[in-house]
Amino acid sequence: MGILKDCINNNNITSIPIWFMRQAGRYLPEFRKIRSKNPNFVELCLNPKISKEITLQPLKRFSFDAAIIFSDILLIPYSLGQDLKFEKNFGPKLGNLNLENVLNTSDNEILKKLKPVYDLINITSKDQILRNKDLIGFVGAPWTLLVYMFNQKSPKKILNQDIYNNINNNYLLEKIIHTQKLHIKKQVENGATIIQIFDSWAGLLEYKYFDRYIYNPTKELVNYVKSLDVEAICFPRGIKFYKEYCDIVKPNVISIDYEVDPTKIAKEINIPIQGGLDPKFLLLNKKEMLINAKKYLEIFKNHQYIFNLGHGVLPETNPENIKILVDFVKDFK
Ligand code: CP3
Repeated sequence: MGILKDCINNNNITSIPIWFMRQAGRYLPEFRKIRSKNPNFVELCLNPKISKEITLQPLKRFSFDAAIIFSDILLIPYSLGQDLKFEKNFGPKLGNLNLENVLNTSDNEILKKLKPVYDLINITSKDQILRNKDLIGFVGAPWTLLVYMFNQKSPKKILNQDIYNNINNNYLLEKIIHTQKLHIKKQVENGATIIQIFDSWAGLLEYKYFDRYIYNPTKELVNYVKSLDVEAICFPRGIKFYKEYCDIVKPNVISIDYEVDPTKIAKEINIPIQGGLDPKFLLLNKKEMLINAKKYLEIFKNHQYIFNLGHGVLPETNPENIKILVDFVKDFK
């Protein structure tokens, strides 16, 4: 058990726990080296030996308290038979959504396709470097997966109205939730100690649809994670009402984006909080970066707080800045 869990469970901790979203990724030269030899991103995610190496790369350089498995939320549509490719300077490209095929995919087919992810977790969790540290598994929230499955690529800032008409399919939503549960269970069985639920496009949903697409489905997943005796961290990026979200969904930890006011969050929300710092601050000089990081540390001084960013590390970040920031947080009293 690691210091993240200690913080979440209100046990004594000697320093502030820290990890970053996208801590394994393109800002690291050792990642880029592996990536250049493995042009197919999906195959890379499904290669346990190499994805283990990538998962642990940031822990070899920095004093992070947790590793997050190197994988992708879009492996779920892939496991349901929807084509998936990642194109340079474009991002993910999904194939046509064949609803009948998706709904008819059996649990066995899904688990067979995702087995390399569980092997990755299994071998990674046994590595010495993770002794007393957490291994974070994850899923995309049902809403964010619906968006990708229908939109077939990352959406823009607003959603095409068609998407609401299309998405209105209960069977698909249920199939996604069912598949997420299978995926969560296998991750936990193989050694994931915390599950983060990424709702990257929560901010795009009209409020009137929140119960149906965000609150109810996410709450179901959170309850499921808790039933496995593991903690759930939720990251509903871009929403404007984190307090209401926490009251309804009841995650163990709420991860906040960089657009919300941390002072307001600290006053309103009593559960452990994670993140917030704008990843763009890591592109500034050391002094400005640390002034901004300190702001979060001070605001959450009397709160259960896991240091993280308000979204993933940007590819253009200098790894030297990550080191400075992590050491600063670990030394903060
Ligand atoms: O270090 C980590 O955080 C763990 C690995 C991780 C990846 N994707 C690897 C990845 C995690 C947790 C994810 C989750 C994920 N994937 C999300 C939720 C978080 C978020 O960013 O909002 C989403 C929306 C996706 C879908 C996805 N995967 C997109 C939109 C992209 C392209 C964006 C980009 O930065 O190019 C990916 C590709 C991807 N997933 C990369 C990595 C390291 C970049 C791949 C590359 O090398 O080209």
